[in-house]
Amino acid sequence: MEVIICQDEEAVGAYGAAKVAQIARAVGPSVVIGVATGSSPLSTYANLAAMVHDGTLDLSDATAFALDEYVGLPIDHPQSYHATIHRTVTEQLGLDPARVHVPDGSLENLQTAGERYEAAIKAAGGVDVQILGIGANGHVGFNEPTSSLSSRTRMKTLAPRTRADNARYFDSIDDVPIHCVTQGLGTILDARHVVLVATGAQKANAIAAIVEGPVSSMFPGSVLQLHQYATIVVDEPAAELLTMGAYYKHVNDNLPAWQRLDV
Ligand code: F6R
Repeated sequence: MEVIICQDEEAVGAYGAAKVAQIARAVGPSVVIGVATGSSPLSTYANLAAMVHDGTLDLSDATAFALDEYVGLPIDHPQSYHATIHRTVTEQLGLDPARVHVPDGSLENLQTAGERYEAAIKAAGGVDVQILGIGANGHVGFNEPTSSLSSRTRMKTLAPRTRADNARYFDSIDDVPIHCVTQGLGTILDARHVVLVATGAQKANAIAAIVEGPVSSMFPGSVLQLHQYATIVVDEPAAELLTMGAYYKHVNDNLPAWQRLDV
């Protein structure tokens, strides 16, 4: 696990984007990117968008898979993840909407939503780089505490803390859906690279738990300790409970030139 501690949110976005772009360029035009919603990756998307606009990155042939979707929200609801991904990712990064996939959260098709999504990811050749945020309770995707560490895409019930955190996007907490369809932790682990971005003191406990705590379904993001290429990019407030912060900085200050990222 690679831990990058940045000064502030802006630097997290710059580093996250540089890492994703490095992988995307190495893979080539048909790169498959896993994308998260929420506020954490927005600065990463903004930096990737700047690269697309200045011509240093071309994602027009890329494929994208979102992590999750609420159950029961129409896809044209502004807070559906279909609409959110379209607004914050597809349009910003110049992706082809036909190659941007979001789980099907419609009630009618719920029973097969997970297996259909897994099949689509497989048909695309798997995810090359997965961008992740993290919930204050340690969830990644919407894999809430006690999610199976080998889970695949399926319906989950949102934790009360997650509904409260996401109520800021709705008129009231009662409008936040109770269920979601989310990629599983096993699905996320299958991505070839993972880049998790987190900012702010409200994420400090979760970051310390997933980086330095035991691998446990009580902090689902801790499953990333089992991933060969997981990069955790945090700002100083999100890093404040890490006991080995000085070591992570020392590692990065002393990387051999071939391992350094040009940010
Ligand atoms: C979003 C997702 C969630 C968020 C997490 C953090 O698709 O799967 O895991 O990444 O809830 O949300 P923010 O970034 O808004 O704090």
